[in-house]
Amino acid sequence: LFSQPPHSDLVYLDNAATTHKPQIVISAISDYYLQHNANAGRSVHSLASKSAEIFEQSRKTIASFFGAKDQELILTRNTTEAINGVALGWARHQLETDDVILSTSLEHHSNLVVWQQVCAEKNAKLKLVNLTLDGQINQFDLQQQLKQHTPKLLAITHLSNVTGSYQDLQALVKIVKKVSPKTKILIDGAQSAGRIKINFDQLEIDFFAFSGHKMYGPMGVGGLLVKEKILIEDEMKPWLFGGGMIDQVNSQSSTFQLDPRQRFVAGTADVASAVGLAVACDYLTAIGMDEVLKHEQDLAQYTLEKLNVVEDLKICGSTKANESNEHLIGRLGPVSFVHHKYQAHDVAQVLDHHHIAVRSGHHCCMPLHSHCRWPATVRISFGVYSCHEDIEKLVEVVTHLDRYLS
Ligand code: ALA
Repeated sequence: LFSQPPHSDLVYLDNAATTHKPQIVISAISDYYLQHNANAGRSVHSLASKSAEIFEQSRKTIASFFGAKDQELILTRNTTEAINGVALGWARHQLETDDVILSTSLEHHSNLVVWQQVCAEKNAKLKLVNLTLDGQINQFDLQQQLKQHTPKLLAITHLSNVTGSYQDLQALVKIVKKVSPKTKILIDGAQSAGRIKINFDQLEIDFFAFSGHKMYGPMGVGGLLVKEKILIEDEMKPWLFGGGMIDQVNSQSSTFQLDPRQRFVAGTADVASAVGLAVACDYLTAIGMDEVLKHEQDLAQYTLEKLNVVEDLKICGSTKANESNEHLIGRLGPVSFVHHKYQAHDVAQVLDHHHIAVRSGHHCCMPLHSHCRWPATVRISFGVYSCHEDIEKLVEVVTHLDRYLS
C-alpha cells in the first residue's frame, strides 16, 4: 500500500516530523499531472475547467474530512503558514494596545514565535500558561490566566509533538466559554490531524491549523479552518495579495473577492497537492479514524511499558497512555525520552545505524525543554503502519546502548 522506503528493512518512527505517503496518494498526484494539468480558475479551455473541478472536489473532500464547510477551509502550505495566516489576517486587524494573546510553554515554535512578532508589532501582550513539572499544560493556571487577562486569542496545541499529551477540545471550549467567552480559540492541530477525529463545525473553536504531510498527504499543503461567522463578518482579511483573489484592480487600489475560496488564495493554486491530500483523507476515512486512534493509543502504551523498565532512561511527560481525564489531558504518542548517560543525537545515530529512524533535539520546542531541563530528547512517533515489532527493535538497541557508545 505504501511507497517502498529506500531500505525495505527501515523502521520509521519519525512520523511526527512527516509520515510516508500511500501509493494511492503518489499515484493521484502523478495522474493529475499526466492527465489534467492546467491552471485552475484562470483559462476557460476544457483542461483548465477540468482542473478547476478537480481542485474544488479535492477541497470539499478535505473540508468534509475535518467536519468543516468547504468555504471554511483556506488551503495553506502547512500548519506554520496557517498560524501565520491567523496572525496576519486576523490578529493584526483585531489586536489593540495591551490586548493579550494567551498561549502555553508547551507550544511548537510555530505557535509561539508568530505571536511574539505580532504582539511586538501591535503593542499587545503575550502570556504563556505554565506547565507542570513533567511538561503538561497546567490546567489550573490556564483557567487563572483566562480569567485574569480575558485574552483576545487562546492559541494552544491539540497534541504535543514532544510529550504526546493532548487536550480534550470539548472540555477546553467549555472552560473558555465559561471563564472568558469572548476569547477566540486557535488549535494547532499539526499532530492531531490524521490521528484524532476533528468535527470542526461541532466544536466552538474558531481556527484549526493542520499540515497535510503529517497525515499521509504530500508536503507543501495544509490548511486553516476558520469559522464561517468570522469570514462573513469580515474579521479576517486577506494577507496574501495578487492574481486570483482580486475583484477589481485600478492603478492605485483594488477590491477583493468575497468568496473565501478565492479571497485567500493569491497566485496559482497547488492543485496536485490538494488532490494528494484529498486522497490521503479518503485513505484515513477508509481505515476509520477510530481505528487510527486506537492503533496510536496501543503503540504509545506498548512503547511506554517497554521503555519504563529500561535503565538510565527518563520518559518525558506522562508514562501511561490514556484517554483525556478530568484534568482535560490525555496521552498518545509521540514518546520522547532523555538518556541519563548518552546524548540524544548519539542515541539517534546508533538507532540510525540499526535502520531505525527517530528524531532527536528540541523538536522546535525550546521553552518546553528549558522548563523541564531536558537538554535534548529522543522522540519516537508512530504512523498507521507502525507495529509492535518496530518498538521491540528500538527497545533492543536502546537497552544495549553501552555496547555502542561506552
Ligand atoms: N514539527 C515537526 C516535528 O515536530 C517537524 O518534528
